[in-house]
Amino acid sequence: MSAKKKTGTTAYRCTGCGYTQPRWLGRCPDCGEWNTLEEVTLSDGGPSVTGRHSGDAAVSARPVPLSAVEAKDGSRLPTGIGEFDRVLGGAAMKRSAVLVGGEPGIGKSTLLLQAASLAATNGRVLYISGEESAAQIRARADRIGLSAGRIEILCTGRLEDALRALDETKPVFVIVDSIQTVYSPEAGAVPGTVNQLKYCSHELVSWVKERDAVLFLVAHVTKDGTIAGPKALEHLVDTVISFERNDEDIRFLRALKNRFGSVDELGVFQMGEKGLSPVEDPSSLFLVRRAGALPAGVAVTAVFEGSRVFVVEIQALTVPAKGAMTRVFSDRVDNARVSRVAAVLEKRTGVRFSDQDIYVNVAGGVRLSESAIDLALATALYSARTDIAVSAHTACIGELSLAGEVRPVSRLKARVRAAQSLGFTRIVAPEDESGATPVPALREAISVLFGK
Ligand code: TYD
Ligand code: MG
Repeated sequence: MSAKKKTGTTAYRCTGCGYTQPRWLGRCPDCGEWNTLEEVTLSDGGPSVTGRHSGDAAVSARPVPLSAVEAKDGSRLPTGIGEFDRVLGGAAMKRSAVLVGGEPGIGKSTLLLQAASLAATNGRVLYISGEESAAQIRARADRIGLSAGRIEILCTGRLEDALRALDETKPVFVIVDSIQTVYSPEAGAVPGTVNQLKYCSHELVSWVKERDAVLFLVAHVTKDGTIAGPKALEHLVDTVISFERNDEDIRFLRALKNRFGSVDELGVFQMGEKGLSPVEDPSSLFLVRRAGALPAGVAVTAVFEGSRVFVVEIQALTVPAKGAMTRVFSDRVDNARVSRVAAVLEKRTGVRFSDQDIYVNVAGGVRLSESAIDLALATALYSARTDIAVSAHTACIGELSLAGEVRPVSRLKARVRAAQSLGFTRIVAPEDESGATPVPALREAISVLFGK
């Protein structure tokens, strides 16, 4: 017998012990018998011998050399919505499950209906709704102006009905809206329990793991966590996407977990009359435009969210603490960062913060976690405390060390350019880049910015 070349759906199974592996071998690696491996054809997309997470049928019940595994290309399926695809890591991955969580009314159903309409050009789409009637969904589609033609709707909360419909229609794009409305008698008598949620999600996820399809599970999440469960589902799915909002009509999509891409990308949408539309150049979205001078306590910086730069305004307020304890009130920037920057400021400039209550906010409601905001945060705090405004058209970029040095940041050039393109002419930064004013340390920065 000679070794045969492996083809797409062929594997080799031992007639003695049933061990299956992708290459022909003279001796079965499992039972040790010689010349027992026979070529078998595996049904494509059928259930694997091992279980659901293989994606490569029948070969992963046992360890195989990684080099023998074929990397699959072209296994992504676009949602057709650029901002959504970017957050997913380029597009949704086939055989994967995506949990889309967000508070009620944020636009989860709208987003997925829009994606469903676009994805329908790639194959069958099944929208399983336990919340809204088919007529309500049709009315929404009409209102947004979607072509509803190729989306198939199933209104049910019963898991068994959903699974039967999946087997019958074999869709490539599946939406379950919402997972909290799905129940099965197999998981106890009471719908809506964490048990139900886990059982039903597990069954649906198992279904998609063996098909060239993508599953989106919609989950309601409230800020105070009063609606049970989505946390319990996070480990069952491959990707967790969170849909959030700021004070206006802007919606943010971000990945909290992604097996197939980074979790840095931010998708930005605007909710309008015609549903959600992508905000493709959001760099100035969070900038407050003012005529004339800036008030004291604000400073502008440039931050990265994934691959894109946003120019943002940090606002600070300091007031003498009423009691012996001082507090930091900051939703958008980590409290510890605010305290640390205030401590560095006090030490290096002699301006006192340790007897002050400090409030920090970011215009537009974005959350900032990059250390590159340190210098702008220090500037806003110093300006608030001294009541001296920085001149308009000024932006500050840089990380602060505890020793008060202004440290370099990643991708400085892109940050400087973004600020310049929005009209900022004086950019205080750690390095001399594209016309930025370099400052080695906080003291020099304060002197450049406030003339002190
Ligand atoms: P929805 O997608 O139903 O939210 P979720 O599924 O997350 O609960 O969106 C509901 C909100 O969006 C609702 O308040 C109305 C608003 N909306 C618009 O402003 N424009 C639109 O075109 C649509 C479809 C909804
Ligand atoms: Mg909904």
